[in-house]
Amino acid sequence: MSEDDRTQSEGIQPPQGGDPARPPARSGRFAAGPAAETQAFSESISFDWRLWEQDIRGSKAHARMLRKIGVLDAGELEGILRGLDEIAADIRAGKFPWRPELEDVHMNIEAELTRRVPAGAKLHTGRSRNDQIALDMRLWLRDRIDELTLALRRLQLALAELGGRHRRAVIPGYTHLQRAQPVLFAHHLLAYVEMFERDAGRLADARERANECPLGCGALAGSTLPLDREAVARELGFVDRAGKPRLTRNSMDAVGDRDFVVEFCAAAALLAVHLSRLSEDLILWASAEFGFIRISDAYSTGSSLMPQKRNPDVAELIRGKSGRVIGNLTAMLTLLKGLPMTYNRDLQEDKERLFDSADTVLACVRLMAGMLEQAELNEKACRRAASDPTLLATDLADWLVSRGVPFREAHDVVGRLVACAESLGKPLHRLSAEELAQVDPRLTVEARAVFSLRRALERRRAPGAPSFRNVSLELRRWRSRLRKLLEE
Ligand code: ARG
Repeated sequence: MSEDDRTQSEGIQPPQGGDPARPPARSGRFAAGPAAETQAFSESISFDWRLWEQDIRGSKAHARMLRKIGVLDAGELEGILRGLDEIAADIRAGKFPWRPELEDVHMNIEAELTRRVPAGAKLHTGRSRNDQIALDMRLWLRDRIDELTLALRRLQLALAELGGRHRRAVIPGYTHLQRAQPVLFAHHLLAYVEMFERDAGRLADARERANECPLGCGALAGSTLPLDREAVARELGFVDRAGKPRLTRNSMDAVGDRDFVVEFCAAAALLAVHLSRLSEDLILWASAEFGFIRISDAYSTGSSLMPQKRNPDVAELIRGKSGRVIGNLTAMLTLLKGLPMTYNRDLQEDKERLFDSADTVLACVRLMAGMLEQAELNEKACRRAASDPTLLATDLADWLVSRGVPFREAHDVVGRLVACAESLGKPLHRLSAEELAQVDPRLTVEARAVFSLRRALERRRAPGAPSFRNVSLELRRWRSRLRKLLEE
């Protein structure tokens, strides 16, 4: 700090506690308070109170740093820390007097602190609500991502366990929702495990970028005081793997940036889309037409009119809730697109979108995991559907290929065979040797060996294909990996 800087910073008078009826954000500049309408319109305490824990954590770290650089003396720091702890206890006990006229969580806590501890009036030194809110949201989001990732791991495990309980169950795989080729039920479930794995990766990536400390960036241009940003970052866990503090590097960017919110909302939206698709599969499978699964009573509802109904409402709501999570992403992008540098009050609108996305996907992931943990597979119905011999038409074409027939020709031959079976009203695998030969002499009786599901699945051995062996290995790999991740 140069001589010049020192004089400047020492000249600063800490804000006074002031008149509790006058919101501290207005201070001496205003002769009158805001209109009641303005207050009601602009308050955010009704939703940002949720950030109280992060706000207090941040304030404590900031206070310790202020002590370190000599703005607070030891007694003042002690008073502030104690005051903040007491406030935290009151909030936790539901005894804190939230005051909408104080606008937001920051002002509410600071004003109450200052009422209790005079040194509270020094806490906002070198800080603005602009860097404070950016900090609170990053802290909040980091915790929510950790919580969501854990729930997602449990969901992945529920899928793998359900597959593991029915490792030999075969179902038709569908394209265009038309029966296509046989697959192991577990293979179908593991497809979702992969999708959720990408979601977990996106969340980890979003967390990585959210994990930078903005405190010390002030309103937009930092501070004239010699703030120790690194100490604050370290205390709040904004560090890289080597323990090195991670700071936002441009004060203007730091207070105007909500990319981390967008990134989370985007990851949440795609996760919600995956959950919606899984819900759709479960809803279809639970219908009488499929009858593959039974969703337990705990996750089903009845009809107020039709006594026989068991409705998959939870799955339907999960599918439906993807709409709002997608909407939140769109709202966030739209919110940001026209904003000039740097902080603008529009940014206050980010919170409800972020909270809603985080709450919604967490609830959906948890409910989905619970539903799968209790779902029952009807292996018989699966077997019935999978024994449709047309599912193996491609295998028959492959059999011709293995006898030297070009695939396009084999495709045509089998197509004609399917048409012939249809016109005779016979299943494909029941055609006689003559009927086979009539369609094409290369279709000898040995071709019938193709119509074994076991053979069909044993032969699908390339990486990623649903042979028994591949799927067993994948189940084992996922289950041990997920159990380990959940134990950590
Ligand atoms: N409640 C505000 C928000 O959520 C906090 C920051 C207010 N900053 C300001 N300059 N008015 O964005």
